[in-house]
Amino acid sequence: MIGRSGAKVEVLETVVYKFGGKNPKEQGRYCEILQPPAAPQILKIYDNGYYMERLIDIHDRSPKELVGAILKLLATYVWPRPSVVSAEEMRDWRKSVETFSDQAVPGLNGSLVYDLYEEDCFRLTHGDPTFANLMQRKDGNYALIDPVPPRPTAPPVIEMDIARLVQSLYGWEHALESSAWPDVKDGPDLAQQMIDFFPGKSTPRIWFWSAYNCGRIIYNNADAASVLWAQEALPKFLEKLDEVCL
Ligand SMILES: Nc1ncnc2c1ncn2[C@@H]1O[C@H](COP(=O)(O)OP(=O)(O)OP(=O)(O)O)[C@@H](O)[C@H]1O
Ligand SMILES: [Mg+2]
Repeated sequence: MIGRSGAKVEVLETVVYKFGGKNPKEQGRYCEILQPPAAPQILKIYDNGYYMERLIDIHDRSPKELVGAILKLLATYVWPRPSVVSAEEMRDWRKSVETFSDQAVPGLNGSLVYDLYEEDCFRLTHGDPTFANLMQRKDGNYALIDPVPPRPTAPPVIEMDIARLVQSLYGWEHALESSAWPDVKDGPDLAQQMIDFFPGKSTPRIWFWSAYNCGRIIYNNADAASVLWAQEALPKFLEKLDEVCL
């Protein structure tokens, strides 16, 4: 099985080997930090890959159930923990985000990041908690695979994680693989309900990252269906951001 960033996943009887792709070693280490039950148990890390516990694919749940399961995992085991990236590494993160926005996210005013985040509010985050990255253990508990370790252009703020859920609720998985994932017809309504659940200042932040992540998808150009989805979703997120930033 080959992943979007070129990583390969070999599913064995009880364990899974993920190797190749951009930086499997870094991802394996980050999974170890996230640790079970939120993330898969990591058994061994090599330069080019890592072994982890085998989990079960789930595509047959309602979007509400998926969102609920992901938020519960993050809010219980991930977001309460402190960030693991050094302040030094993240020193100029706003500048990095602004530059990336201005270069790669058409229509997004990158300088907004300075108003949205007057203070650093870094937490431990997953970085990519989409529906596609939610799996289940035999005991029925959920776990999130495939995290994205933070970096200056992808800071560890909880609104970045929530924006990944917005991505799923706006039909990213369905656009990618319509035979495996149902269309999320009420996704935008569910996204709004989810966002309203967080404090007021989270709202513009979440729409900002939702738009920003479209730019990341287009920039990474990993697969045509994702890029098409991002090109169509970007103006919707920019409009939402505009509405709340007036
Ligand atoms: N621990 C696991 N147990 C069982 N299957 C797994 C496990 N990890 C990954 N898989 C299978 O491999 C698929 C892709 O895995 P993953 O999400 O890590 O990579 P990706 O999103 O395709 O790639 P990339 O890291 O390039 O974004 C999953 O959807 C799942 O079907
Ligand atoms: Mg994945």
